[in-house]
Amino acid sequence: MKKLFHPVTITLFVVTFIFLLPSILPSKAVKILTDEALRQRAISTNMLPTPKTYNELLKVVDNPQNLMTAKKIALGKELFNEKLMSKDKDIACASCHLLDKGGDDNLPTAIGFHGRANPFHLNSPTVLNAALAKAEFWNARAKDVEEQAGGPIQASFEMNMKPHEVVERLNAVSAYVSKFQEVFGATISFENVRKAIGAYERILLTHGAYDEFLEGDNSALSAKAKRGMTLFMTKGCKGCHTGMSVGGQSVQYFPLRRYLSDYMGMIFEPDLRIKESPFPFPNEGGFLGKDERLKFRVPILRNISRTAPYFHNGAVKELKEVVRIMSKYQLGNEFTPKQIDEVVAFLKTLDGEIVEYEIK
Ligand code: HEC
Ligand code: HEC
Repeated sequence: MKKLFHPVTITLFVVTFIFLLPSILPSKAVKILTDEALRQRAISTNMLPTPKTYNELLKVVDNPQNLMTAKKIALGKELFNEKLMSKDKDIACASCHLLDKGGDDNLPTAIGFHGRANPFHLNSPTVLNAALAKAEFWNARAKDVEEQAGGPIQASFEMNMKPHEVVERLNAVSAYVSKFQEVFGATISFENVRKAIGAYERILLTHGAYDEFLEGDNSALSAKAKRGMTLFMTKGCKGCHTGMSVGGQSVQYFPLRRYLSDYMGMIFEPDLRIKESPFPFPNEGGFLGKDERLKFRVPILRNISRTAPYFHNGAVKELKEVVRIMSKYQLGNEFTPKQIDEVVAFLKTLDGEIVEYEIK
């Protein structure tokens, strides 16, 4: 009896109790919000529907350094699909960013010039709604779509061209010479190629069920998707995946949290294999994000159900598994299978059709 109340026994008991506390206590109940309250949660933090008219669009996406015009956009569209801008004349932007496939290629990693894979095994993100992001690329190294467009044309594993080669190729096509003259009042330059493509990307916004709900249509989302949206809005996902594009607004650490079990040799939950990968999936490609500090531009979640596989190196195929990883490592609150299903149902409502703006 005396032994039972020994300070060491008591300390052990207390420590064990504190450790078990989270599993004993019922997890915090999920808020139930009215449709209007749920909508306000989004709108009040700038998670707005995409514009439906061209005038509204201009207010949201136009670039003062590269004003949009109908002719510039049309030229940009042509260039986006132009294989002449790749060394072997076989790859265009549209080869990796298929607009009818969610704006990406659905491959784990991009394949470019001579079948070369991206050296960091990077996954092609969608171009849809990318103009709404505050920075482009997985490590946010381009400030906007105009700057971004110069990257893939020159990358040896993508289109593999020097700027002067691009200009020479396009100069050989008389229609391009006159179109650049008309749009920019100048001869063809690499800078104007980037600007035309950027202007085109700025009209590639999508609109779907989620937007209709934000615009006031309560019937646009199922009850399940609304429960998922509630989790998304109240549990912390929107802290990072926010803005009109539901992502793309900031750079954040991933994974944000680590677990003792991850370090202890995967005894309970073999998610992170610290020695091989800092991520809860294989570190294929070895990319470590911005400044190699495990910082990533938060991905855009619009059309996410159509852009598998996921994460910067395309290591995860299932959206369900992505949501589980996000809830555990970014929120520190692993969702139940039911909650994961609900969030996936919500994420599917972020799919949309490219808006056919009446360009003036
Ligand atoms: C070989 C496939 C391939 C080609 C060709 C290609 N891209 Fe990409 N694109 C990618 C990959 C991979 C990334 C991510 C690279 C990174 O983050 O370093 C990317 C990133 C982007 C992004 C950033 C999106 C975001 O949310 O950060 C945009 C915009 C984009 N590409 C547009 C273009 C344009 C415009 C062209 C043509 C000039 C083009 N791409 C050509 C594969 C490709
Ligand atoms: C602290 C910021 C943060 C929070 C909170 C967060 N995420 Fe993420 N999310 C990220 C980052 C950064 C990535 C990219 C990681 C990578 O690819 O290496 C990402 C990736 C994703 C992806 C994959 C995107 C793609 O194109 O491959 C999905 C889907 C996603 N998050 C959904 C969610 C959901 C759902 C929640 C809430 C449960 C959530 N996120 C919470 C920062 C966050």
